[in-house]
Amino acid sequence: MDLLTLKTWSPDDILRAVEMGLVIKKNPERYEGLLKGHTLAMLFQKTSTRTRVSFEVGMHQLGGQAVFLDWMATNFGLADVRDEAQVLSRYADVIMARMLKHEDLLRLTLGSEVPVINGCCDRYHPCQALGDLLSILEVRGKLAGTHVVYAGIWNNVCNSLVTACTKAGVRITAVTPEINKPSADPELVKAARATGLFEETLDLETAVADADFLYTDTWIDMEFFNNPEFAEEKERRAKLFMPYQINGDLLKKTDAYVMHCLPAHKGYEVTDEVMASERCIAVDQAENRMHIQKAVLLQMIGPERIT
Ligand code: CP
Ligand code: NVA
Repeated sequence: MDLLTLKTWSPDDILRAVEMGLVIKKNPERYEGLLKGHTLAMLFQKTSTRTRVSFEVGMHQLGGQAVFLDWMATNFGLADVRDEAQVLSRYADVIMARMLKHEDLLRLTLGSEVPVINGCCDRYHPCQALGDLLSILEVRGKLAGTHVVYAGIWNNVCNSLVTACTKAGVRITAVTPEINKPSADPELVKAARATGLFEETLDLETAVADADFLYTDTWIDMEFFNNPEFAEEKERRAKLFMPYQINGDLLKKTDAYVMHCLPAHKGYEVTDEVMASERCIAVDQAENRMHIQKAVLLQMIGPERIT
């Protein structure tokens, strides 16, 4: 089973991974060494802190090995992605790839003879969303009946969060005045609406009043944030989205915990004060990436190993 987008994962698949992630977090010693002799190949076209390290350390703790491949240091760029992926899959038991474009991830998957995990592309970030469900479960002790408000730009993180929440029984309200174009996925939104758990509004203050979690992400994806050619668009977005910033004034109107996938751009989508507040669980979210990914790796490499 691949993990390219949560659209193809059933509610049971999602809940099983999340519950297992929590068990792994509480009893890491039970899973030590279970993936001895197995290899995860990690291919990155973009930068990463959390995804790279959480997968690498998680695989190590399970007894396996992770091989890091920086796109620019490979021959992926010279050849057909599909062909290079086929070769990579002869060395590894799972491939995790962070690709700029989802279409290239799909092409890579076509060539791979082993399961492929999406480590964040322009459209989806499924590993993040699974880890976020684990964080919600950990804080609230349940998923169903909780309410998440996502504020800011509709992007890859939002896509996966909306799918994850609506499949797991979590109510989610999107307060997103604009979509990051590559993330547009009307089919995903339609499926979310059909669950009855998804709402949209631009009234952030009303939305946060009964929120359990208030989530935001960068208004500008990582590959553009410091790109001088994107400076004008960055300024435009900063003006457009500033009313949706998670700041101290907004926190006074809600008891919600604050979530952020990180890296945070303080002064843009969230303030320093909010990131430093006790209600911000972003660092726990980052830690939980590792626990949930261990669950995913165990499910992909050896279902018979799961106890
Ligand atoms: N949240 C997340 O995926 O972080 P990185 O980009 O650092 O991997
Ligand atoms: N939307 C962000 C997510 C980072 C983990 C980006 O793509 O840069």
